[in-house]
Amino acid sequence: MIRTWRLDDSRQTLVLGSQNAHLAEVVYWGPRLPDEADLEVVYRANAIDVTGGMLDLNPELSICPEATRTFPGQPGLVIRQGDGRPYLPKFCFANDEIAEDSLKLSFTDQDGTLTYHACFSLDPVTHVIEAKSVLEATHPMHLHWMSAPVFPAPQSSDEMIDFAGRWCGEFQLNRTPWNAGIRYRENRTGRTGHEHFPGLIVPCRGASNASGHAYGFHYGWSGGHRMVAEELPDGRRQIQFGHATRLENDPQCHFETAPLYAMFSDDGLNGCAVAFQRHLRDRVVRFPDPERPRPVHYNCWEAVYFDHKLDELKEIATLAAGLGAERFVLDDGWFGSRDDDTQALSDWEVDPRKYPDGLHPLIDHIHSQGMTFGIWFEPEMINPDSNIFRAHPDWALGGEDQIMGRQQMALNMALPEVHDFLFERISGILADHAIDYIKWDHNRVLPTPDAAQTRGSYALLDRLRTAHPKVEIESCASGGGRIDFGILQRTHRVWLSDSNDAVERLKMQHNAAIFLPMAVTGSHVGPRKCHTSGRVIDIRFRAWVAAQRHMGFEMDPRELGADEARVLREVTQWWTDNRDWMVNADILRLDSADPAVIAEQQLSQTGDRFVVFAGKAGTSAQIAPRPLPLTRLTPDAMYRIELVNRGDAPALSRGDQALKSQGLTLSGAYLMSHGITLPWNFPETMWVVKGTLL
Ligand code: GLA
Repeated sequence: MIRTWRLDDSRQTLVLGSQNAHLAEVVYWGPRLPDEADLEVVYRANAIDVTGGMLDLNPELSICPEATRTFPGQPGLVIRQGDGRPYLPKFCFANDEIAEDSLKLSFTDQDGTLTYHACFSLDPVTHVIEAKSVLEATHPMHLHWMSAPVFPAPQSSDEMIDFAGRWCGEFQLNRTPWNAGIRYRENRTGRTGHEHFPGLIVPCRGASNASGHAYGFHYGWSGGHRMVAEELPDGRRQIQFGHATRLENDPQCHFETAPLYAMFSDDGLNGCAVAFQRHLRDRVVRFPDPERPRPVHYNCWEAVYFDHKLDELKEIATLAAGLGAERFVLDDGWFGSRDDDTQALSDWEVDPRKYPDGLHPLIDHIHSQGMTFGIWFEPEMINPDSNIFRAHPDWALGGEDQIMGRQQMALNMALPEVHDFLFERISGILADHAIDYIKWDHNRVLPTPDAAQTRGSYALLDRLRTAHPKVEIESCASGGGRIDFGILQRTHRVWLSDSNDAVERLKMQHNAAIFLPMAVTGSHVGPRKCHTSGRVIDIRFRAWVAAQRHMGFEMDPRELGADEARVLREVTQWWTDNRDWMVNADILRLDSADPAVIAEQQLSQTGDRFVVFAGKAGTSAQIAPRPLPLTRLTPDAMYRIELVNRGDAPALSRGDQALKSQGLTLSGAYLMSHGITLPWNFPETMWVVKGTLL
């Protein structure tokens, strides 16, 4: 007997099928199939032939491939008895629960020991499929590995794209050709990590940013993931995502993967990007006050570091407000005896040497400037040189001889007393002060990975959010070390990178936009001479790169000359004038003909307006700028385009190139096929073009 199931939205269909009560397999995933498609035929049509040198039947590439069915690749589940003996389940269909946009398939094994559930839900608006595996055991067992429901990868794909990075260099694209065997990524750092953003894009042959078929995957978990992209000897391909292996230290009766977010796109990488961006913003993140415009930030870290002086901070706050800042974030250095990064983490009490009258005088001043107040914590961490460590050395995770990270250890977040201590300290500070924002940092990897640690962090965040529902939280981990949809269920912004170098940021923001919308992506105008790269960058470029995302400043405003301050004020004003529509816009990565130009188009939800940011990251090979094709416009509609920052053209741009002096009215067809011809400009500059549907 063949059983089949389908989930559809307007652009994709997912078909699952199962024969002889075996585990189901995804037998079709791609463009929407007609309603009347015979799914049993789809199931049978998918089967591959048998020839010499093969088994007499092909084992299913199921949602959880089983070692017991001679599956020739990586199994979806590896589990042991409580005493350590391997357990090899062979699952049999138990029941299904079918709702309009969701599906739950349940299977039990031959002994009735394990029940496996595969849960799928398809969001018809965002086009994101959330898939999750749940395993129940009749007695405690050791889980080694469990994949979220397994999806096949397309046969017409030549390469896959995943994400690597480092401190100050997040979201670098890796392109790996498909080959027989495995592309295996496993993150054992215990946090999402700069190195291993848990995402994968599988473009089909010929796909670009703006066209073609592509499949996107993201695993929403902050404790380290494992990805297997495997091509079997018969040519079939599978994608597995789950927690890193052996992350559960204790035998248990219940296991769940995090949600795997997946989608099919019929308009290139941008189809994946828009789905991820909308799903994250509209379904995953829960803003305390969704109507509140994202405020312009000022963060004092790169202005004062640990050297907090009340008068200076007040002066900086006044200047920042004058530039347009609406929220002042007091970074590391306000607590304990935190004069440098060797000490005081966990001593979450206001430092009376720096703030003899507490934080209130600073907060009152910030409020008098029309700004709200945010504050930095690094809750999961402890310095051995701290009062709390001296009182509770057993609260730290890992052995005494472990290698330190930034002179600090992680707290054991699974201990109830640690959880209560952190809740009380942080909650106390929040209750005693008018704080509307926490920058929540996590600056080291764990000594050994452990899922209980991540669950402990999530539980603390959840408890604090229940107690202080109006407070927004930013996820930071030495920049972008903890960015994923799991942490973003509990937070509202990410600190993408500790690099405020606008050239680096331009590239990172471009790649991160495959997953992250503007609403959650923090981007700050850094110092004239970047502290992490040494590059000296003009204020115009720094300001426009920050204005691509959730804008803020992080330099010492006292360093700004009059012209720099004017430019920054103007760009910030432009951002606040436009943020209401930009916050809900889709960020579309453009296929720039010039590799030196990194460009995107932010298109409003209704399609009535857009802004193009064309950043020149380096020197072009050719003399004149190549036209930049836009995307997702209506071909026969007319658009008015105008250069927002015409005044930025340098003297070396000598011609009378049209956009420099006037707006132009052009059709969508022209703008998408030919593209916008921009004036010449130096490297490290940004052209900003606004477009209006007529
Ligand atoms: C991390 C963060 C920085 C800053 C420092 C403070 O490095 O990424 O933005 O908050 O910690 O110590």
